[in-house]
Amino acid sequence: MAVVNPRTQEAFNAHWGRILSNADITALAILVEEVPVGHISCFKMEGLDSVGYWIAREHWGRGIATRALTLLLQLMPIRPLHAHAASTNLGSIRVLRNCGFRITGHQLSPATDRFPECEEAILVLTPTRPDGDEAAQGAASPTHAVQFPPAHVQPWPAASSTKD
Ligand SMILES: CC(C)(COP(=O)(O)OP(=O)(O)OC[C@H]1O[C@@H](n2cnc3c(N)ncnc32)[C@H](O)[C@@H]1OP(=O)(O)O)[C@@H](O)C(=O)NCCC(=O)NCCS
Repeated sequence: MAVVNPRTQEAFNAHWGRILSNADITALAILVEEVPVGHISCFKMEGLDSVGYWIAREHWGRGIATRALTLLLQLMPIRPLHAHAASTNLGSIRVLRNCGFRITGHQLSPATDRFPECEEAILVLTPTRPDGDEAAQGAASPTHAVQFPPAHVQPWPAASSTKD
């Protein structure tokens, strides 16, 4: 798990206000049986189309992030798609690899007001070749089919109780 300094409520509201008013960002709520349990988004980072997600801690380890990312990838066919995860964030790297992302390198990420300096894995999801031979491209094949039918994603509601 990566170390993150939580935002204050005021900073959280301002952050999400900016995200939700930015037409270039797709931000989706993750619902399990209509209960919001996290969020997932697609945004530009350093000019590259990227994904990020967050699941409330009490819902970890139930396949929800994997299911949500699988759904997002179906909704958003844009490729290549990029992601960064702290090298120590093995759960997130696993989610990405299970969804076909592959690690292309590592970099040192400088400390910010939210994160200490850390090494990050850089991952990318490339287009599937017409013959569907992802293994030949070095991409990890999903290790399991989607097994969490109650989870789905929808546009994030204006008022939210899940903080990041
Ligand atoms: C990372 C995070 C999104 C994972 O969400 P989740 O719903 O628990 O993930 P899933 O249950 O879909 O899958 C987790 C996978 O990681 C694996 N995993 C979890 N912890 C692990 C660890 N310490 N070492 C190795 N694998 C681990 C699980 O076994 C599972 O893999 P599997 O499906 O092949 O068995 C969640 O912990 C989170 O929101 N963390 C805080 C925010 C964050 O880190 N966001 C990502 C930033 S890049």
